[in-house]
Amino acid sequence: MISLSMKKTLGLVLSLTILMAMMFIRESRRSDYTGEDVNVHNFFAALLGNKSAITGGSGKVVDSGPDDHIFIYYTDHGGPGVLGMPTFPYLYADDLIDVLKKKHASGTYKSMVFYLEACESGSIFEGLLPQGLNIYATTASNAEESSWGTYCPGEYPSPPPEYETCLGDLYSVAWMEDSDMHNLRTETLHQQYELVKKRTINGNSAYGSHVMQYGDVGLSKDSLFAYLGTNPANDNFTFVDENSLVPPTKAVNQRDADLVHFWYKYRKAPEGSVRKTEAQKQFVEAMSHRMHIDHSVKLIGKLLFGIERGLEVLNTVRPAGQPLVDDWKCLKKMVRTFETHCGSLAQYGMKHMRSLANICNAGIQTEQMAEASAQACVSVPTGRWSSLQKGFSA
Ligand SMILES: *[C@@H]1O[C@H](CO)[C@@H](O)[C@H](O)[C@H]1NC(C)=O
Ligand SMILES: *[C@@H]1O[C@H](CO)[C@@H](O)[C@H](O)[C@H]1NC(C)=O
Repeated sequence: MISLSMKKTLGLVLSLTILMAMMFIRESRRSDYTGEDVNVHNFFAALLGNKSAITGGSGKVVDSGPDDHIFIYYTDHGGPGVLGMPTFPYLYADDLIDVLKKKHASGTYKSMVFYLEACESGSIFEGLLPQGLNIYATTASNAEESSWGTYCPGEYPSPPPEYETCLGDLYSVAWMEDSDMHNLRTETLHQQYELVKKRTINGNSAYGSHVMQYGDVGLSKDSLFAYLGTNPANDNFTFVDENSLVPPTKAVNQRDADLVHFWYKYRKAPEGSVRKTEAQKQFVEAMSHRMHIDHSVKLIGKLLFGIERGLEVLNTVRPAGQPLVDDWKCLKKMVRTFETHCGSLAQYGMKHMRSLANICNAGIQTEQMAEASAQACVSVPTGRWSSLQKGFSA
């Protein structure tokens, strides 16, 4: 097993039940890649088993053969067509699919299961992951909705008081806790998918998302054991549908998890402390970055398509089964153009990826985009929101 520590900047993306074990992994040298070494280049090299392409980290790769089953669990922030990384650039759906095709062509696995937690995670595979690669993927949300954080401060169950952050994500805790509770030799991927779907929709409340499946769905008749192994203590359990469902909890839109953190940090810090001032500053900065990004994207839409049609074009969602964008190179160019003039999209700004994709789908040229961006963003942001200093998302 290789562990790329792709934890979110905030929030330990973990099931409470395995929290201690995972903390140990994070703290010890058992993470093969951490910090700057967790990047798209290394992720792809590791997956392809290309040791010579790796830079930094332990150098461990997925050295698999034709009879192997591969399990990938990826969790981070995301947006339409894009997955977050602790480093820049982010991971784009087209590049991931290309690497999966390459891996398949190299004949170095029998079947692969990909569990993905991120906002709009369905967009990573929707209209993109073909059948026949022997890959079965499930995602925390469909292509156009956010996914949800859970075990947040103020919820029941709540994290220990010293954590001012959500400890889990709804889809992730659903599959992890389900795996804790069942005999993985007899539970199938499909059975787990059904249970995780039911839990993650959260009673159809506003605090839930639609778990999706893509690729070779037929593989879901396999037992989880082939991909996850087993806990011998569970070997005598018989599968019962109901035993994995816990009462619905409230949840926090993943995109707001950072605000929740700053808010709790602020509330708990003693009056007049440095910590309180710092939390307030972080909260205000995050809010003003959000407003700046939202406002700039909207304004660019109006400049390109007119006051009337601007928002409509930006917000268009293509029919299910179609990829987000036809020309991914164009999307990446649009991201860079936007960030050159308006600053980093950063974690929150990934939500606007669909708008940038729609700008490509409407046939806008890079030069037009550059002009509109320059008009919309009169001064280029500096410091932590500057892409020129920190790197581009694409
Ligand atoms: C491995 O990576 C190196 C460096 O990026 C590249 O030159 C080589 O072609 C790769 N090998 C394979 C088998 O893909
Ligand atoms: C499972 O059942 C067998 C037969 O009854 C028993 O010998 C074994 O100890 C049980 N395993 C566990 C982990 O409880």
